[in-house]
Amino acid sequence: MRSLVLIGLIAALVGLQAENPFFAPEKLTETGVYYYPEAWDPAQWDRDLKKMADMGFEFTHFGEFAWAQMEPAEGRYDFGWLDKALELAHKNGLKVILCTPVATPPVWLVRKYPEVLVKMADGQLAQHGTRAHYSWSSPKYRELTSRIVEELGKRYGNDPRVWGWQLDNEPSHYGTIDYSDAAQEAFRQWLQKKYGTIGALNKAWGTAFWSGLYASFSEIELPNPTRLYSGIASPTSMVDMKRFHADEAAAFLSLQNQLLKKHLSPKQFVTTNFMHEYTNVDPWRSTDLDFISYTAYLVAGHNKGVGPQGFRMGDPWRISFANDFFNTLNGITGVMELQPGQVNWGRINPQPYPGVVRSWLWNAFAGGLKFICSYRFRQPLYGGEQFHYGMVGTDGITESTGGKQYRQFMTELRELRKHYKPGSPMPAEYAARTTAILYNVENLWETSIQPQTYQWDQKAFTFKYYGTLKTLSVPVKFVRENDDLSPYPYVVIPAYQMVSPELVHEWEKYARNGGHLIITLRTGLKDKNGHFFEAPWANTIRSLIGATIKMNDMLDGTMQARVSMDNKTYTWNNWGDMLEPGQGAESWATYADQFYAGRSAVIHRKLGKGTVTYIGTDTDDGLLEKDVFKKVYTSTGVTVKELPEGVIVNWRDGFWVVNNYSSEMVNYTLPLSATVLVGSSAIAPAGVLVYR
Ligand code: GAL
Repeated sequence: MRSLVLIGLIAALVGLQAENPFFAPEKLTETGVYYYPEAWDPAQWDRDLKKMADMGFEFTHFGEFAWAQMEPAEGRYDFGWLDKALELAHKNGLKVILCTPVATPPVWLVRKYPEVLVKMADGQLAQHGTRAHYSWSSPKYRELTSRIVEELGKRYGNDPRVWGWQLDNEPSHYGTIDYSDAAQEAFRQWLQKKYGTIGALNKAWGTAFWSGLYASFSEIELPNPTRLYSGIASPTSMVDMKRFHADEAAAFLSLQNQLLKKHLSPKQFVTTNFMHEYTNVDPWRSTDLDFISYTAYLVAGHNKGVGPQGFRMGDPWRISFANDFFNTLNGITGVMELQPGQVNWGRINPQPYPGVVRSWLWNAFAGGLKFICSYRFRQPLYGGEQFHYGMVGTDGITESTGGKQYRQFMTELRELRKHYKPGSPMPAEYAARTTAILYNVENLWETSIQPQTYQWDQKAFTFKYYGTLKTLSVPVKFVRENDDLSPYPYVVIPAYQMVSPELVHEWEKYARNGGHLIITLRTGLKDKNGHFFEAPWANTIRSLIGATIKMNDMLDGTMQARVSMDNKTYTWNNWGDMLEPGQGAESWATYADQFYAGRSAVIHRKLGKGTVTYIGTDTDDGLLEKDVFKKVYTSTGVTVKELPEGVIVNWRDGFWVVNNYSSEMVNYTLPLSATVLVGSSAIAPAGVLVYR
């Protein structure tokens, strides 16, 4: 059975790496950097692009903020400057990712058609002079977008100098909700399509609560929390609003993609660069793009990392998470923006740890990324991001610390390419641990509306599970509801609050057929409208987990309640489910204090040929969860490789990559058969080891 699962798994992983016309496998990854010809003296373009190529870059990135230069007046296009810049890039051996410039409408556009602007929660229109301030829903904006996109497509769609396309820039509105008239109208239409009748909407939204009944769709407005001062009557209306906004963003991208594709050579890809931080859009909804990419900034004073210098390196799992999360579309991804050094927009903007930029590059490489692009080549002299590092400093020629690290990485990468052997299979022992995480952003939206404790943070919860798996050197795949789970030996279902009974049935089938499920607290409590089921508490998962959830509790973040497993004690305060195991279910961990001392916190059972483990509590340090995973893997016959804190190991294309994000030197135990290609087994903080 196990070997069959493994063969299926390896086949599925190979399938994900399907052939594509955009990336040559032997290149492994290609490195590029943003350049803004429109912002620099044309007399310097050749010098800058030459320098870029000399440093080892293989592509550059143009145009995402240049609408005003591309169309200086309505219907009057000027691409002469872009033609010249493209020619110089080509001359210097650099491919180009070209962008649709729709994130920054020119001033003539917003003055003539102010209805294209986002209306903010306070009723004010967004102002010209920023970016991402246009409405996804505005018919006028869609029309004007279509025109510029078609112009670009016609002009450069068959231009061999253009490698591929980026739509927009970080589509997200940076978390702002659009209350424009166009968005209000589009929301009503979206609801009408979804529910058909107002009666169905009233039922789904639960409008019998607080006199919320609607008589017609025309009465509905987008819920605006800043005007709902005593809370919201219908949480479902908020979830629908988030679904609607995410659909609008995806539709706006799809519109551009479809228009471009009419003119593009099949060799040019179309993608966009999603932000990992903003969850008001759903990258996974953009299913018609060739792939989705991401942007990553790890050091801006916003997280502590590991150890005293961790704040200069970032969270160890951050890049790996994005690598795994964004390759779910066609098994391809790349990082479109990777932090080059110090940035300007953080709470504080510390210097990254010496060498860590190169370490990020290797970490990105390790995730199978097809390209890695840095933001940006030159440090800006003016504008809203002045203190932001580039590959070169304010003089335009001196390589920054980040620039030097890129140069080093690109030299090392060129050497590594010589060792590439096509079709290297993933080592069986590593593959055997492969664990899928089932994810749907709608659960994040829903739990954020009624979090139940100020400590609830669904994103942090998901990251914690991901990080826990990585510390056990587990390859992780993200999967969605309708994906086939059977290729994966282990599946984690973290805080999956909204389910359908059919979905839970699929989970049960998976376990009965030999899969190992790890389900956590806050799973299966609600239906897809966010209503509780009219049944005993958590009834949908009761027979699956083999236990009853008697109640749950949550404590203040300053309190430390205890839970024990195998004679070890752990502390928790975020959330605790009190479980009563049924027949055949074992209690693995129990609460050690509070009035429910002795009640189970973790349950494990066999089901058919597989197992189900339910984790009912949430520790801040993740240590209990880590020990539960160790128990699950070892009790199901799979070895784990526990890594020191802050160390991340990934495998790709025959290469092992080890990154040390901790503040301490790490001595990594290499297998006897290993050939070291980069670094050594003594890995300094922010250091890298690559071996075969
Ligand atoms: C990104 C954005 C870029 C630039 C960069 C600065 O989020 O897409 O345009 O602003 O941040 O770090």
